[in-house]
Amino acid sequence: MAANSLEDIFGKLRRHPDVEAPNLQAWDATDKLLLEAAAGRVGPDSRLAVIGDRYGALTLGALAFLGVQRVRVHEDLITGERALRNNATVLGLAGFGQLPLGERLLSGAGTVLLQLPRTLAELEEIAEAVALYAAPDVVLIAGGRVKHMSLGMNAVLERHFRTVQPQLARQKSRLIIASSPKKAAPDAASDTATEETGAQSSGPAAGHAPMAHPAVGHPAVEHLAELDLDVAAHGAVFAGTKLDIGTRFLLTFLPEMPAARHAVDLGCGTGVLAAMYARQNPGSRVTATDRSAAAVASAEATARANGLADRISALQDDAMSTLPAASVDLVLLNPPFHLGASVHAGAGLKLFEAAARVLAPGGQLWTVFNRHLQYLPALERRVGPTTVRGNNPKFTVAVSTRRA
Ligand SMILES: C[S@@+](CC[C@H](N)C(=O)[O-])C[C@H]1O[C@@H](n2cnc3c(N)ncnc32)[C@H](O)[C@@H]1O
Repeated sequence: MAANSLEDIFGKLRRHPDVEAPNLQAWDATDKLLLEAAAGRVGPDSRLAVIGDRYGALTLGALAFLGVQRVRVHEDLITGERALRNNATVLGLAGFGQLPLGERLLSGAGTVLLQLPRTLAELEEIAEAVALYAAPDVVLIAGGRVKHMSLGMNAVLERHFRTVQPQLARQKSRLIIASSPKKAAPDAASDTATEETGAQSSGPAAGHAPMAHPAVGHPAVEHLAELDLDVAAHGAVFAGTKLDIGTRFLLTFLPEMPAARHAVDLGCGTGVLAAMYARQNPGSRVTATDRSAAAVASAEATARANGLADRISALQDDAMSTLPAASVDLVLLNPPFHLGASVHAGAGLKLFEAAARVLAPGGQLWTVFNRHLQYLPALERRVGPTTVRGNNPKFTVAVSTRRA
């Protein structure tokens, strides 16, 4: 291995296939702080698990500098899983297994490193899994950027651990160390982890929709009266069990959308668009796809809860990379506005390009976006002729027709 310091490793990390730009980094000061905190605690035989690694900084840093021989790692985003594998190859590092959040990731783990998630609901699901499955003497070292942390995080951790100790902030990051898990009785439902494969394993195959999370009380399911729809949401999913206001506006155009042989809910989150479209169009096959394992598991559960599982298939993938070109007649999209903690248009543009690739000539992309975003020229250029179908005070709905 060519690297001889953490900085060497971090300097070689790339985010690819996630969006790359000069202001978007593949690691942050929290990764460094977490690894330094773990340094005194782990050795070659330690059972180390990593959760929330963004692009491999924690996993590869642990393999190179903590002396551990094996790391089990869970990342919710398939882009992160792929980036970790790419970065491992470039750095010549092996010895990790990529697993869904659950028993096989955590059983017997003595140390867990966690990049704190953005929402308390996601933290709840993670903390619960660690408390339930890790060793009784596990130490959970959680870290985040101070500006994204809240006291609510301590409260969530205190529900699952007897000892929770926030540390002093360093370089705008802070650690919280939790130990003495409160073990809850496991639910009868089991963790349906995918196979761990070999020394430098590949993650769940693209095209798979892993049930990413332990089944204890997750996903949450709520009835949305305004749509007469049951919505299922794991902690990490956009909007939780609520209806996003952009999605609500896009749904008012449902009666105008064509009946497709194959429609895609791109960036499906909980799968509200897929479910509503499938219900309205009984002759259509619908793919609900997202890069987040939690989203895909939620969309699958939403389809099941509404008796639509036979017509909606869920797919974890990055921007439909595994769907053939020109294979789809309709794409529904409420594009992401954020990439992790940063606001970046690149995430939406990447999905417009993906829609252009998978749509058959004459196929349509229906998208909703904030009125202030200058997306119309981008849609016109990337997909084809684009018309505005409606505006409300906040949002625009546009239809782009794939040019032949
Ligand atoms: C604004 S949310 C919309 C969620 C859902 N369709 C709804 O309306 O509630 C955007 C979604 O796009 C997903 N996403 C972002 N980048 C993606 C990518 N490269 N490939 C697939 N999904 C992506 C996010 O995980 C998120 O679930």
